[in-house]
Amino acid sequence: VQTALRLQTRGLTPSRSQLFSHMPGELVKALRAVAGSPNVSTALAVREQHGRDESMHRCSPPDAVVWPQDVEQVSKLAGICYSHGVPIIPFSTGTGLEGGVTAVRGGVCFNLTRMDRITALSTEDFTVAVEPGVTRKALNSYLRDTGLWFPVDPGADASLCGMAATSASGTNAVRYGTMRHNVLNLQVVLADGRVLHTAGRGRHFRKSAAGYNLTGLFVGSEGTLGLITQATLRLHGSPEAIVAAVCAFPSVHAAVGCTVQVLQAGIPVARIEFLDDVMMAACNRFSGLSYAVSPTLFLEFHGSPGSVEEQVRQAGEIVQLNGGSDFAWAWELEARNKLWAARHNAWYAALALRPGSKVGYLTAESCSPFKQLVCVSSGLIVGHVGDGNFHCILVFDPADLDEIQRVKEFATRLARQALALDGTCTGEHGIGLGKRHLLCEEIGELGLTIMRQIKAILDPKNLMNPGKVL
Ligand SMILES: *[C@@H]1O[C@H](CO)[C@@H](O)[C@H](O)[C@H]1NC(C)=O
Ligand SMILES: *[C@@H]1O[C@H](CO)[C@@H](O)[C@H](O)[C@H]1NC(C)=O
Repeated sequence: VQTALRLQTRGLTPSRSQLFSHMPGELVKALRAVAGSPNVSTALAVREQHGRDESMHRCSPPDAVVWPQDVEQVSKLAGICYSHGVPIIPFSTGTGLEGGVTAVRGGVCFNLTRMDRITALSTEDFTVAVEPGVTRKALNSYLRDTGLWFPVDPGADASLCGMAATSASGTNAVRYGTMRHNVLNLQVVLADGRVLHTAGRGRHFRKSAAGYNLTGLFVGSEGTLGLITQATLRLHGSPEAIVAAVCAFPSVHAAVGCTVQVLQAGIPVARIEFLDDVMMAACNRFSGLSYAVSPTLFLEFHGSPGSVEEQVRQAGEIVQLNGGSDFAWAWELEARNKLWAARHNAWYAALALRPGSKVGYLTAESCSPFKQLVCVSSGLIVGHVGDGNFHCILVFDPADLDEIQRVKEFATRLARQALALDGTCTGEHGIGLGKRHLLCEEIGELGLTIMRQIKAILDPKNLMNPGKVL
């Protein structure tokens, strides 16, 4: 029954399903010989934990989970899967939002979190190398006394290699860039077990004109081209002073107009986040706050005390010109956190609107934030407005199929609207399972064909995280 169920959820063809039902014994033995018996599991509960992320996508468990200890093991384990023709799914914290880790064709999930070394820290070169088990918070606490930090912050305490794989970004991207700007080199195990250093072994240059950029190819590949086993990252100097500020606006127009002008004035704002009135009402209710129920900007400025003060003054003037309220602002960490509490808790505030239900979390990006924000000007909206990237949080009842259908249709409409405005269907969560139909619309037939050809060269048997992206 279990096998039948699994096959049903995977929608496999009979011949392939037969292959899978024969697979475990022999394959599991081979995996155990490399990783050690305790580091391979076929228990249903374990497999199910590894078959989903934090999104609304249904769980599809892999057939086995393996915990490699180092890159040599990853390479050997991948080689075994390759010779058996079995899918390989890289897994770290499972905090993705597009179903990127679900094992739609079964296979072996590689839980890479036990590889958690931080190496090659160079404070002069502003670089460090991390394995998949290192999360962004773990790296930043490791760096605490060095005067350096890694600013890319997608919210969740995600694995840095996973963030590279999904081209993650978040609130600091407006000043420090996304993972695309902060990954200098990757060590990747290909489907057949070969180990590639995308920029050359051990290299961590800041610029180069040497050939194609293979690092860039793997950033955002969502596990479909290889397993990232080490990422070399660009570090930044920690800001001496940080100031947080919040202000309300009479309309979405005014808030977005203000954002554009702040950026045009060249103010190096570190974060500039937008919450619409519906979201603000939810936040007030959830966190017991008394913010104005109107479109609101949350800002953060980084720099020396003098430069931060100047940034606040300049931004304050622009806010006033756009009819914004007085700046509420704060220097100390605790006061800053209090000020930003509404933004930090937005996700939970949205959830709390419908207790007991799950959340569909949708994202669309347009290169012109103003245009699209004005089109979708009401709903639970949270925007990384400085990047033109905003999220619309939809809270739905998972038991209501009709509602799920409407949520999906809305998500597609939102993405298409971004495409119509020359934007992208996903600013930061990736294509995963749910947005594959939009990728072709975004990039075009030829672009998609070339992506498929690249995938076929690196992964000729289509074993790397199959069913995602393409
Ligand atoms: C992956 O492995 C780590 C380390 O053993 C474990 O803490 C974590 O819970 C595992 N992930 C899942 C989804 O079970
Ligand atoms: C290659 O791409 C990566 C990831 O997008 C980027 O960080 C890096 O700077 C690029 N390398 C060069 C030499 O341009």
